[in-house]
Amino acid sequence: MPDTVTVMTGASSGIGAALARQLGSKEHGLVLAARREKELRLVANQTGTHAVCVVTDVTHRRDLERLRDQALDRYGRVDVWVNNAGRGITRPVMELTDQEFDDIVNVVLKSVFYGMQTIIPHFQERGQGHLINVSSFLGRVPLVPYRSIYSASKSAVNSLTASLRMDLNASYPRVHVSVVMPGIVDTNFHNVAGPSLPVRAGGSLGPTKVESADEVAAKIVSLIEHPVAELYTSPSQAELVQRYYNDVRQFEESLARRTSSN
Ligand SMILES: NC(=O)c1ccc[n+]([C@@H]2O[C@H](COP(=O)([O-])OP(=O)(O)OC[C@H]3O[C@@H](n4cnc5c(N)ncnc54)[C@H](OP(=O)(O)O)[C@@H]3O)[C@@H](O)[C@H]2O)c1
Repeated sequence: MPDTVTVMTGASSGIGAALARQLGSKEHGLVLAARREKELRLVANQTGTHAVCVVTDVTHRRDLERLRDQALDRYGRVDVWVNNAGRGITRPVMELTDQEFDDIVNVVLKSVFYGMQTIIPHFQERGQGHLINVSSFLGRVPLVPYRSIYSASKSAVNSLTASLRMDLNASYPRVHVSVVMPGIVDTNFHNVAGPSLPVRAGGSLGPTKVESADEVAAKIVSLIEHPVAELYTSPSQAELVQRYYNDVRQFEESLARRTSSN
């Protein structure tokens, strides 16, 4: 029986796939979820473990419950649950359709809500466990306007995560609840979301380090080993947050100035 049993969504590519490979090398018992079975099995084969694959659409609560149940059938417990699946869209607020709005809310936000309600009772029963929600830096600082509803949904993920953590803190001190906020990561996310628009006012981050999926995954591995409430994966992010909340208007104007001088 492995020391740590980890369930993760969005394991068929990008950050999730990298995390599965890294946790596999640390001999976690792995239960991997995504919609594309072939890609999921390819990743499972790269983990060096007997990872369980469960075809899952995170927009369906019943799929997440089935994922939990298959993990419990195989291992009898879950130690770490990572809500990682998600996708973006390139659409300014005024161009969003109702359908696009609902689709992103469902896959980014409601999926996390379903995941939390699915696994937390098991953690409460055991008195321990670690829930990790993969959000985005854009959920903290909405500085890319064409990611509009994606940023808004990730903000809500951050908020729900904090609410849950505070709810559990007193009675379940060994149940950890974390949010991870990557910046720009070199994955298929950007192809799925659609092209980045030409730089617009407020849309430029200036020189920004693009992280690899492996770099982000390594930080999530450390988070599992040393739980904290919030993790920015890129060092410069915390400083940007300070500037943003210090004076939002001034921050937006400085981005616009940088954009027009590019
Ligand atoms: N890349 C970035 O710049 C960046 C930055 C900040 C945050 N993030 C966040 O990081 C997480 C992982 O993204 P990534 O960059 O690794 O992108 P990715 O390579 O496109 O991976 C997205 C994963 O989510 C899964 N997924 C999407 N919709 C799903 C659904 N309805 N049900 C089940 N699984 C679904 C995909 O699997 P299937 O298609 O097989 O279902 C895939 O495994 C996301 O939450 C994303 O918002 C990414």
